[in-house]
Amino acid sequence: MKIHVTFNFFQSPLKLIRDQEWEISTYAGSYPQPQDALLQAMTDCDGLICTLFDRLDKAFFANLPRDAKHPLRAISQFGVGYDNIDIAAAETAGIIVTNTPGVLTDATAEIAIALMLAAARQISEGERLVRSGEWTVWEPNQMLGTGLTGKTLGIIGAGRIGTATALKARGFNMRTLYAARNPNLILETELGAERVSFAQLLGEADFISVHVPLTPATRHLIGSDQLRLMKPTAILVNTSRGAVIDEAALAAALREGRIAAAGLDVYENEPRLTEGLAKLSNVVLAPHLGSATRETREKMGMLAATNLIAALKGENPPNRVRPPRPYGSPTGNA
Ligand code: GLV
Repeated sequence: MKIHVTFNFFQSPLKLIRDQEWEISTYAGSYPQPQDALLQAMTDCDGLICTLFDRLDKAFFANLPRDAKHPLRAISQFGVGYDNIDIAAAETAGIIVTNTPGVLTDATAEIAIALMLAAARQISEGERLVRSGEWTVWEPNQMLGTGLTGKTLGIIGAGRIGTATALKARGFNMRTLYAARNPNLILETELGAERVSFAQLLGEADFISVHVPLTPATRHLIGSDQLRLMKPTAILVNTSRGAVIDEAALAAALREGRIAAAGLDVYENEPRLTEGLAKLSNVVLAPHLGSATRETREKMGMLAATNLIAALKGENPPNRVRPPRPYGSPTGNA
């Protein structure tokens, strides 16, 4: 078998693949691999390991060169989100797609908590002050933020990462609200969390943390209308995908003080930011660090390799991704 990896992969998962006596090619140029070079690399390739920055859209599958001896049969995404891949087009082409859920849940929830704290207590602004040498004295009225303790936390999307974020916030004794398609018994029994409507959550939460995947239905889930429902003191945190929030509308709300602050790990057009966002002092900006711990990335690598090996050996890969089924269908999750 021939495997292509679009980034500088780690030794342990590479060893797992080499132990199969499979060949590996790795893109070594500056990341991400240009689209034409990626397609070219698919010419004789059975399996691909890629990330959210590789665009495997309809055009990718339409133009995919399929060599009779090594036709692409499995795509292993290094990451949990897979909005960069047209899953239906992959399925139509008979290509299995997998992702790496679970192993990055805690790391991502930690970043959500970090962003809440940083935005509420102005850690980035404070650091800029200290580094600039302009901090001269401790003053009673200097850089007053707001605390998390005892406040209301609103979790949008109560899957693995949303649940872990709420559980990690337990130490702050927050009232927890969540908006999700299905009831979450862990949140309800462990935290006494209340499942509420999206609008109620937006109107009542002091801290709002976004944890839905990016799909056509969640693109711009939070736009100017939703920002208007939030309290002027609300703090909005996003560790999911940038495009779940209308970034221009968020920048405007932050600039006009319609919400207090935001903490962002993800952006609508990563790595570019909406004009003016970086100039605002009430937003904390992180470079998509959700899963960025050594141990988590190592586990993601092993899972990505394990998924790919299973798929190419004709076994059931641990984390196969399927195209969404319509709501209400017998096998759908409605
Ligand atoms: C990162 O954003 C991921 O989806 O794993």
